Amino acid sequence: MIIQITDPCQPLKFDLSRPLEIEVGCGKGKFLTTRAQAHPECDFLGIERMLKRVRLFEGKCRRNRLGNAYILRLEALYTFHYLLPEHHARKVYVFFPDPWPKKKHHSHRLFGPLFLNALWKRLEVGGKLEFATDHHEYFEAVCEWFQGDKRFERVEPMPRPKEVWTEFETMFREQGLPIYSAAWRSLPADDKPLEPLTVPPEAEPREGIVRRLGKRDL
Ligand SMILES: C[S@@+](CC[C@H](N)C(=O)[O-])C[C@H]1O[C@@H](n2cnc3c(N)ncnc32)[C@H](O)[C@@H]1O
Repeated sequence: MIIQITDPCQPLKFDLSRPLEIEVGCGKGKFLTTRAQAHPECDFLGIERMLKRVRLFEGKCRRNRLGNAYILRLEALYTFHYLLPEHHARKVYVFFPDPWPKKKHHSHRLFGPLFLNALWKRLEVGGKLEFATDHHEYFEAVCEWFQGDKRFERVEPMPRPKEVWTEFETMFREQGLPIYSAAWRSLPADDKPLEPLTVPPEAEPREGIVRRLGKRDL
């Protein structure tokens, strides 16, 4: 079944009786499709804005006959802010997000107060954010954002054996680059509505597609 987003203001519907894990910027989907195969009891949503990578993700789902993996071609902050169910995701993974190293481009980075607000709203209480990057300065900046937010506590990150490496992680490790990882758990807090988002043009919803790769697609 292929679901097209016809109304970018309509929240996505998930089976709330099943756990949900989300990967932001999932690329070609190596990590998430491997997890989906190992955990048929859980649903998995990849969010990725590059069409070519969305198609490669979809190909992996077809070849592995996955009925519990979804791919959404949309901007991640917008998706978290408007389209995901409240306090439902048990895990969110952000691996090797674009670091936007130049200071004048830092506003393009995913992590910041807007994303943390929306992330807290979408994680179940006790749900976890797993983060990894090869970029030390971005790593430190993300740790600082979380440190200043009482709705999250830092916890041990997941181990990173070869089996969980993403496409970018494999490439960075082959180049001998150091990898930095951290994780945070969401804590109970005052649950305020999210303020409407004033999005920059690059974060506006584009012509997006949502695909549910269910049995009827196989
Ligand atoms: C450096 S790549 C890492 C891909 C994958 N996580 C990996 O480790 O192999 C970053 C990915 O995030 C996607 N991306 C960046 N910003 C995004 C956003 N705001 N919304 C959705 N996808 C985004 C890019 O298209 C790209 O595929």
